Amino acid sequence: MTTTTRPGAATSAGDITSAVIASFERCPDPRLRTIMQALVRHLHAFATEVNLTEEEWAAAIQILTDTGHITDDKRQEFVLWSDALGVSMLVDALAHQSPNGATESTVLGPFWTPNAPKRAYADSIAGGNDAGTPALVRGRVLDTEGRPINGAELDIWQNGANGLYAVQDAEAEEDHLRGRFYTREDGSYAFVGVRPVPYTIPHDGPVGAMLDAAKRHPWRPAHIHMIVTAPGFQRLQTHIFDSTSAYLDSDAVFAVKSSLIREFQERSPDDPERPASIGARPWCLVDNDIVLARA
Ligand code: BEZ
Ligand code: FE
Repeated sequence: MTTTTRPGAATSAGDITSAVIASFERCPDPRLRTIMQALVRHLHAFATEVNLTEEEWAAAIQILTDTGHITDDKRQEFVLWSDALGVSMLVDALAHQSPNGATESTVLGPFWTPNAPKRAYADSIAGGNDAGTPALVRGRVLDTEGRPINGAELDIWQNGANGLYAVQDAEAEEDHLRGRFYTREDGSYAFVGVRPVPYTIPHDGPVGAMLDAAKRHPWRPAHIHMIVTAPGFQRLQTHIFDSTSAYLDSDAVFAVKSSLIREFQERSPDDPERPASIGARPWCLVDNDIVLARA
């Protein structure tokens, strides 16, 4: 029996890769063409490099299916894959290659929610006294020339001593441990939060199964989130990390930058710097200036 080869038929592994890359040659959008051809090239090179078996590819498709099934408007497992595989931080690094003295950005995470309550200078975001050790965070928002930015918005959210963000905590009020603050004329801002604690990224789904199988842990070091915005400046999404926290060297989502680590200075109840929004109890002080890059 003789076999005939149809012109253009792809048979070897290399032929298949070339045929798929060529299939995007007439894509009218040049950026889409670049992305699809590079995606195919790297995906095929990956499968070839690890000599991917049929069982392994079927397992990968099942994992993606499970990822879709566990994802809804409250749980975003695809973003968690992006975070746990370091893609979120890689895209962040590509977008902000030369911060020019501006404060560095880091991962957003899944616990930000819009429309946090607007709060006054040095107000507390903690509902109740058992959220954790109060922490006064204060500083100035400046441009890269050191000039103060008046009216910048700082959207803050964080976890409490129980490790939970308000959106995860059925017992908590919606506005617990979140709020929007505005800088004064001299660029100064202040808010009272609590000392954050390390916590685990959601690990009861496909990402958790991967971490388990790879003997990777799901912990993030203690941090406070903020998004800082001001007209004419680039939006900044960042963290303040507690310098004493565990996991600074092994964040499950690779989001620690040394420039974002701050000391939570322990203060006594009779310290004259204690603001009125902190009762007479031990508290912490965190100095944290922020520098925004021009848009
Ligand atoms: C967070 O910091 O809130 C977070 C970031 C990435 C994945 C999960 C949580
Ligand atoms: Fe977080």
